[in-house]
Amino acid sequence: MSSPLSRRAWLRTTSVGVGGALLMPSVLPALGRRTAPIDQELESYARAVAAERAAAGPVRLQSNENPFGMSPRAKQALMDAWDEHNKYGSPAIALLRQTYATHVGVPAEYVMVTQGSNEVICTAALAFGIDGKELVAADPTFETLSTYGTHMGRTVHKVPLNPAHGHDLNAMDQRITANTGLVFVCNPNNPTGALMPDAPLRDFVKSASKRTTVLVDEAYHEYVTDPSYRSMIDLVVQGENVIVLRTASKIHGLAGCRIGFAIAHPDVIARLEGFKTGAPNALSARAAIAAVNDVDWPRYCVQQNTEAREILRAAIAASGRVQTPSQTNFIFFDAQRPTNTVRKACEERGFLVGRAFPPYDTWVRVSVGTPDEMRAFARVLPEVLA
Ligand SMILES: Cc1ncc(COP(=O)(O)O)c(C=O)c1O
Repeated sequence: MSSPLSRRAWLRTTSVGVGGALLMPSVLPALGRRTAPIDQELESYARAVAAERAAAGPVRLQSNENPFGMSPRAKQALMDAWDEHNKYGSPAIALLRQTYATHVGVPAEYVMVTQGSNEVICTAALAFGIDGKELVAADPTFETLSTYGTHMGRTVHKVPLNPAHGHDLNAMDQRITANTGLVFVCNPNNPTGALMPDAPLRDFVKSASKRTTVLVDEAYHEYVTDPSYRSMIDLVVQGENVIVLRTASKIHGLAGCRIGFAIAHPDVIARLEGFKTGAPNALSARAAIAAVNDVDWPRYCVQQNTEAREILRAAIAASGRVQTPSQTNFIFFDAQRPTNTVRKACEERGFLVGRAFPPYDTWVRVSVGTPDEMRAFARVLPEVLA
């Protein structure tokens, strides 16, 4: 941070203020000096972020955001990048590409950095659906492919989930024809939170990718605690026609910064690059580089998420409602009341929860907040469901 003006502007607009005190100056130098065990330092940073969040209004449990936000190191990197704000062509994008490639164990040519991972889905829909091709996806799943594909005038085959609320792989397989441009698989799935068993999913992706391009959305990869889970990036490395999606929005808490990643064969990456609509901004890229290089903050956030998710799981179980076993930072459950009625009851008690996902019209998706937020939500849940 070379300019005092930019530093003051930064502190005014982005520091975490608690009770009038600014968090940034007190927490960040401490992290740099390592004067206390790292978990203690992260704990105190996270507590201050949570206090700021609590003061900001209703508890945001509707968009699967990281309630603790970005790593303090990412915040520092963003601050240090300020002087790049008026320049084109920042080397930060190329550095982030290399950093993420190293992080997932592939050469840089296998990675595309995007403006949020939504852009991975949109560029894939364009690149592989443009010639009148059809798209295949589960239903419900993360909706961008289906809405974007529909706007493109493409036929989107929406394949209902199976009774276990997972992808119906046989039914999806049957929808693949010579005219299929792209198959979308979301694992773990949003909105259900459910993880597909590895072997059948891997067989499906391998088999489908011999006939068409398969996009595997792993936005919630880092939250998975099931030891049987494996990413599909190894299929990319083996040369299969697979694109894996990752994002900095979830575990890295950078949703507002808009950074996502595609991992695919360099030929596929080159094709996707041709359909991008812009470049990620340099400041976000600097924050993402620091976030990806930080092992302590993601570990802390996963540990908090696992603890908070268990509080939420137990509260829903105590209410007698059915829920899908979540491997993400949200839980989907059958409230046995119309989703919108439940949303309203939650909002009246200070909690925003997810929208309806037809045909699951009595199901509610609740994002995992901090453990304290989940304890507070657990206290109001019986009233909400009464
Ligand atoms: C499964 C899944 N994929 C992709 C995204 C897009 O996230 P972003 O564009 O912030 O990277 C989301 C956002 O919630 C998601 O749930």
